[in-house]
Amino acid sequence: MKVLLLGAPGAGKGTQAQFITQAFNIPQISTGDMLRAAIKAGTPLGLEAKKIMDEGGLVRDDIIIGMVQERIAQADCANGFLFDGFPRTLAQAQAMQDAGVLLDAVVEIDVPDETIVERMDGRRVHLASGRTYHIKHNPPKVDGKDDITGEDLIQRDDDKAETVKKRLNVYHEQTEVLIGFYGNLQGDNAPKYHKINGTQSVDAVKNDVLSALGK
Ligand code: AP5
Ligand code: ZN
Repeated sequence: MKVLLLGAPGAGKGTQAQFITQAFNIPQISTGDMLRAAIKAGTPLGLEAKKIMDEGGLVRDDIIIGMVQERIAQADCANGFLFDGFPRTLAQAQAMQDAGVLLDAVVEIDVPDETIVERMDGRRVHLASGRTYHIKHNPPKVDGKDDITGEDLIQRDDDKAETVKKRLNVYHEQTEVLIGFYGNLQGDNAPKYHKINGTQSVDAVKNDVLSALGK
């Protein structure tokens, strides 16, 4: 099963990703998480990516495409994977089509911009796993600590209101076009396209997403 989660920054992709990967036993491929790991490790990629991410821009297509090609060639991706935050430009989507990486389903999580800003403000993240919480809507069991490891939760550097606005603009300018790209693919190999109302509770979105995917 190869699934793409599509949606604006803060739409809830990371939150829903954990339910899909558990239900289908497939790995999550989050390019955002991979870049944050590179920053933490201080690699050359991390050094280059940090400035761009802090400003809310997109990292270069060729870097991202190479990183994902390498990741999906690994053994744990043999039975499929969940793309979270990739592809996010037409060039990235086209590169996957050209490489014969055909998706079974695209799940779009639809949330208006006004809701996004409030969500980002309350978001807390466990950096090592990518697990995501919200101080009001999806709080951890212990304040400031990850449910599973008990380690500290952090606020992402790009969750400042000003950067969130920039990321939303970038989404509308460069990523939203993928809704049409995947929605208009024709033929036997075309992915099934599902649009989900992402303004509901985390649980209600989860139910809609899993039932759209046949679980
Ligand atoms: P990335 O990490 O992919 O960030 P993003 O797409 O901006 O998405 P987010 O992770 O911010 O949001 P999300 O949809 O996962 O929402 P979440 O579940 O956390 O990318 C970061 C940066 O890396 C980019 O800006 C770019 O610079 C670079 N990058 C990454 N991929 C790239 C690529 N392919 N090409 C080029 N550059 C790339 O939820 C948000 C909050 O809301 C949480 O607090 C959560 O608890 C809460 N929440 C979730 N669902 C609900 C709900 N139903 N009700 C109430 N609250 C909810
Ligand atoms: Zn995310």
